[in-house]
Parts: sequence; C-alpha cells; structure tokens
Amino acid sequence: MEMMKCVIKEKAGAGNLKLTTRPIPEIGDCDILVKVLAAAVCGTDVHIQDWNEWAAKRLTPPSIIGHEFAGEVVKTGKNVKNVKIGDIVSAETHIVCHTCDLCRNGYEHVCYNTSTIGVARDGCFAEYISIPAENAFVCDPKIPIEVLSMMEPLGAAVHAVMEFPVAAKTVAVVGCGPIGTMAVAVAKQVGAAKVIAVEPNEKRAALAVELGADVVVNPIAVDPVEKIKELTGGLGVDVVLEFSGNIYGIKAAIQYLKPEGKLAALGLPSKPIDFDLAEFVYRGLTLKGIAGRLMYQTWEQMKGLLAGGLDVSKVVTHILPLEEYEEGLRLMKAGECSKVILKPF
Ligand SMILES: NC(=O)c1ccc[n+]([C@@H]2O[C@H](COP(=O)([O-])OP(=O)(O)OC[C@H]3O[C@@H](n4cnc5c(N)ncnc54)[C@H](O)[C@@H]3O)[C@@H](O)[C@H]2O)c1
Ligand SMILES: [Zn+2]
Ligand SMILES: [Zn+2]
Repeated sequence: MEMMKCVIKEKAGAGNLKLTTRPIPEIGDCDILVKVLAAAVCGTDVHIQDWNEWAAKRLTPPSIIGHEFAGEVVKTGKNVKNVKIGDIVSAETHIVCHTCDLCRNGYEHVCYNTSTIGVARDGCFAEYISIPAENAFVCDPKIPIEVLSMMEPLGAAVHAVMEFPVAAKTVAVVGCGPIGTMAVAVAKQVGAAKVIAVEPNEKRAALAVELGADVVVNPIAVDPVEKIKELTGGLGVDVVLEFSGNIYGIKAAIQYLKPEGKLAALGLPSKPIDFDLAEFVYRGLTLKGIAGRLMYQTWEQMKGLLAGGLDVSKVVTHILPLEEYEEGLRLMKAGECSKVILKPF
C-alpha cells in the first residue's frame, strides 16, 4: 500500500494534531484523486486545533484536517467527465445531497445534508486527497498555485460582495482578515466608488490598502461610526460587508449604514448579539447572512473576475512546508499573517 504524509486530528480535545502517514486514499467511480500542491490555513483549522464547541460537534477523530487547497488531478473514477488527469483544480468544500428541497431549489450552499471536506471527512493537509469530481473546479494553470489554494475563501468574499449591488456605491468592509481583504479587491474590481476598510490590525489594514481600499479606519484608535459619517459627508455607506465576526464590530457596522442600506454578514460571532430592531426597521435596513459559496454561480464569477485581472496574490503572506503546520496555525492565531500556505511537496 502506498503511503502519504498528512496532518491528523488524532483525538478529541485541545491540541492532538499530529504529522503522520496514511495510505493514499482510494477513489470511487465519481471521485478524483488530487495531488495537493498547496493548502491554505483557515481559522476553522485553528478551531479544530483548539477543539471549540463547533469543532467538537462536527469532527470524528482521527481524521485529516484542512479544506482549502489546489492541486493536480492524478486519477479519475470511471464515471468522471468534467475533469481529466493533469488538470489543476481547486474545490468547493461543501459536499451536498442534491435531493433535499434546498438543493432542488438551487440553495445547495445551505443543504441540510452537507458534509464538509476537512471537517466531516478527510481533508487536504496531506499529499493526496480524494474528492467527488463534481466538487472540483478546473483552474487556469497560469495563476500561481498558492492563489488557487485560496479559491474557497475567495469565493466566500465574492459571494458577500455580489449579494447586493456595489457598483458606484460606497462600501464599508468590516474586518480585513484574509476574506475581508480579498473582498476589498473584489469590490473595487466590480466598480465600488469608495471602499472603506475597518480593521484594527495595522499590518492587515496596510494590506487592505494594497488591495485597493480607498481609506482604512482603525476602530480602536477612533470612533468608527463618527469617522465613517465624516468620510461619507454625514450620510453613511450604502453597503456594509461584515467579515470581522466581532460583536463590537458588527454593532458599529449597523450604524455605518445610511437608510435603506444593506448589510451582508459573513463573519461568525461566537455569541448572540443584540441590536435595536426598531431603529433597523425605521431606517429600512436589510441584513443578509452569507453562507459559503453559491454552487456554482460564485465559482463562475470567480473565474470571470480572475480572467478580468483580479489579483489577490498579496494575501499570501507565508509559504511553509506541510511539516510546519503548527507554525502556520500559530501565525493565524496571533494575526501575524494574512494567508499561510502549506506545501506538502
Ligand atoms: N459565512 C461563511 O461561510 C464563512 C466562511 C469562512 C469564514 N467565515 C468567518 O468569516 C470571518 C472572517 O474570516 P477570515 O478568515 O478573514 O479571518 P479573521 O477571523 O482572521 O478576520 C477577522 C478580522 O476582523 C478584525 N476585527 C476584529 N475586531 C474588529 C472590529 N471591531 N472591527 C473591524 N474589524 C475587526 C480582526 O483584526 C481580523 O483581521 C470569521 O468570523 C470566520 O469565522 C465565515
Ligand atoms: Zn476555510
Ligand atoms: Zn441537499
């Protein structure tokens, strides 16, 4: 049996990650085997390491972690038609049922029966991964593999930006971690008039400017509500894209909006938040949760954006060998990076 190196969550509890070897996975008739050339570290991987409530409910160790990746197709099942050996692919991480009412109504991204790569099944912090061919997305091989490994989080950013029209509008991007930073670039590319990035981490704020933010607001150094009013002639913004998941960040974000403003919320707060619904109603505001990526409209939009010159390569701040996954997770936890990419080969 041919073996591969991989990172597993060995057992429940904090820590318990281990670099080990496992057999190269078998594939079914509708699956493909991908040689992982780059895998990106996500906040979710940190949650799995820390074993928070979310992770404890969804993982059954031992299993291989990691879900953001790109690689080369090295084997295809006999029924596979959309992908061929040698293709460079990335992947949608949600494996869905196609039979529930949500799937049948075009809402696959919130399918009741979703199984997520690197969470409910073996992931990509490994030399090889087996995935259903339908989840593969064939990429332009001219784009650097590190960038292609971020297609899944880029898709989350694109989904949020595309939810409400942003062309010719004033947009606040709240929280410039990797996803918010990519959203800044996407919003500019699709024609936002002004993008105001709100981010307390100076390094990340500087990166948001490099990706196209017109101005950054540090919500710790200044009152962000006052500052945003000042930057918008007292009016507020048309659209808020929320990527901080921070309770104070979200509450302030509601105040950034002008009447009839739209808030697309993607960041995940750890606790429920309260806000004044009467005021929300009175001002005619809209709030929309953004879960994952539309399957597969968001992926097609990404293809178009990348073909049109979208460049998010600066979001890659660190490239490490797979063996140094612990350093990658540490950088993420400390906020000392934007995206950390692991290379198994
Ligand atoms: N909805 C989905 O499908 C989905 C998918 C992936 C990630 N997420 C969530 O999206 C969020 C963004 O993920 P990420 O990978 O970019 O990383 P992240 O969590 O590192 O980014 C959050 C950023 O918000 C900043 N921040 C903290 N407090 C703030 C405040 N008060 N105002 C403005 N910014 C503030 C942080 O400094 C950080 O840079 C996370 O909450 C993550 O859990 C959601
Ligand atoms: Zn992720
Ligand atoms: Zn379904």
